[in-house]
Amino acid sequence: MTTTMSAGAVAPVPGAGVVLSLHGVTKEYPTTPPVRALQGVDFAVTEGELVGVVGPSGSGKSTLLHIMGTLDRPTAGEVTVAGYNLADLSDKDLSALRSRHIGFVFQQFHLLSGYTALDNVADGLLYTGMNVATRRGLAHRALARVGLEHRLDHVATKLSGGERQRVAVARALVGSPSIVLADEPTGNLDSKNSDAIVDLIRQINGDGVTFVVITHNREIAEAFPRTIGLRDGQIEYDSGVR
Ligand SMILES: Nc1ncnc2c1ncn2[C@@H]1O[C@H](COP(=O)(O)OP(=O)(O)O)[C@@H](O)[C@H]1O
Ligand SMILES: [Mg+2]
Repeated sequence: MTTTMSAGAVAPVPGAGVVLSLHGVTKEYPTTPPVRALQGVDFAVTEGELVGVVGPSGSGKSTLLHIMGTLDRPTAGEVTVAGYNLADLSDKDLSALRSRHIGFVFQQFHLLSGYTALDNVADGLLYTGMNVATRRGLAHRALARVGLEHRLDHVATKLSGGERQRVAVARALVGSPSIVLADEPTGNLDSKNSDAIVDLIRQINGDGVTFVVITHNREIAEAFPRTIGLRDGQIEYDSGVR
């Protein structure tokens, strides 16, 4: 854990390589009437897995990503990330856990538009307190890993969609997270760039990085080693590792 986590009773629970687990996770939005976006969701992700979560629009995929990513808390049920039970953590500790252990990739890339590729990726290490030269050195390596060593100094707005998503993948990886969560990472890409991002995710997973990739595209999700189908906030099927 990072030094920003407060000391105390909170400690990771050892569990045979489990990076993420959800047990009986329910999420109800307090609208009128309330919306139950997730209901009794149970699954665990082991180190090194590449899991596709697939479901139609409104099935609860983004809600699930927010809960797995510690951006939101469930109404009921238990979530662990890197062995930490999220219910035991304050919002401040949750934010430290998120920075240290979770990488995010979003459909809309979420890059800082006025910044270069290098600084967008180096930004992913701000929480570490490393100096800028160290952060940029690691960012350079992460960008090389996604095939963008020739684009280090390009401002984000000058990059193509496919290149922007590669920068986002590099930013997700630069801090060596325990898990990378991607929400519709190919949703804004044409089919060629979409295939390229899926190939990149497979290649990086081949190096041992754990991924959960959320998509409404069955073809993409079902080509991954494990697929979880979501419908109306519940798990419809879980293929297990094929
Ligand atoms: N902040 C919110 N407030 C109220 N309802 C929400 C909110 N976010 C999502 N929902 C509802 O929860 C359900 C699941 O949404 P979401 O998780 O975005 O699904 P997906 O990503 O699969 O399209 C939908 O019925 C949606 O309208
Ligand atoms: Mg969504």
